[in-house]
Amino acid sequence: MTRWLIWGGLAVLAALAVPYVQPAYVWLQSESILDRRYTLPRSLVTADASKDGVARGARLVRLAGCTGCHGPDLRGKKLGSPVEIRASNLRALTRLYADEDFDRAIRRGLRADASSLWVMPSQAYVYVHDSDIAAVLGYLRALRPDGAPTPRPKFGRTAREEIAHGDLQPAADLAQTQMPARDLGPHYAGGRYIAMFACGVCHGTELDGAVDGKVPGLNVVNRYNRSQFFSLMRKGWSADGRQLKVMSPLAKQRFHILMDWEIDPLYSYLTARAQAPTADQITGAIR
Ligand code: HEC
Ligand code: HEC
Repeated sequence: MTRWLIWGGLAVLAALAVPYVQPAYVWLQSESILDRRYTLPRSLVTADASKDGVARGARLVRLAGCTGCHGPDLRGKKLGSPVEIRASNLRALTRLYADEDFDRAIRRGLRADASSLWVMPSQAYVYVHDSDIAAVLGYLRALRPDGAPTPRPKFGRTAREEIAHGDLQPAADLAQTQMPARDLGPHYAGGRYIAMFACGVCHGTELDGAVDGKVPGLNVVNRYNRSQFFSLMRKGWSADGRQLKVMSPLAKQRFHILMDWEIDPLYSYLTARAQAPTADQITGAIR
């Protein structure tokens, strides 16, 4: 009789514990990812404080979309769910961060304490040249330091579930595994470079679009002739004469500052990429 009571009691306890098992797993799993520390790679970049460097930096910060998240004055901005996160106040950090700390945050997704950043799209900047990072730093350092450092992000239940299931990954991991856009040789290198840092944040660094289907792969340029593409970049008109929800405001805020000699190679690269045979077709032809 007592035996039955003990077993019965244990069964009731086990049933009561079930609702806590899944949350405990999510919490432990996400906590171990949030606690990760990384090796800080060396950085030899120093801010380019020349007049030319600062001017180039101001342009890059706009074209690469830093102002889109960190705010037009770079003093930080609250971003949406699932993580309660603010894009950092970069003008408070200029007092605290050395050039190499900035470089590692931008291109590697790493904080100075060797933990990973979140939501910061370092995977789109991992291939940015040293000289351009130097210009961005020259511009940041030329701005008046302002405000207080941004509080750390908070990870609620939904965010932790996404982390535990691998749907939300540390910026450092994404930067480490990011492949570049397809290389079509030196003739197209300039256009490819612009595409990666100016378009990659949304269209993916490989330019194949976003997995959720909300941003198309850039093979859509097949629908554009050269002058229609200029009109998309400068005025936001699509090839079929529409204003687009995201691209049209972006043209007016960002891309209209692209020079002819930047839009031209960008278009050449994107169309060459869209029309190039795939790796399978090439190896097939060799066999
Ligand atoms: C999609 C939005 C987004 C874009 C675009 C973006 N950032 Fe960030 N950035 C963030 C967020 C969010 C954080 C804070 C991450 C955190 O606290 O984990 C951040 C953090 C940083 C940090 C580290 C700050 C710290 O507290 O250690 C630096 C430096 C930085 N960004 C610079 C840049 C620069 C420069 C660019 C453009 C080349 C840029 N970011 C583009 C969202 C963005
Ligand atoms: C902030 C995110 C973002 C960035 C940065 C961005 N795009 Fe887009 N792009 C989108 C979205 C979203 C769409 C889907 C249409 C829309 O909502 O505007 C799109 C659509 C397009 C289209 C298809 C338009 C059509 O005819 O339907 C082209 C072409 C394009 N983008 C080119 C570019 C190029 C080139 C760059 C870089 C210079 C770029 N985009 C940068 C988000 C972005």
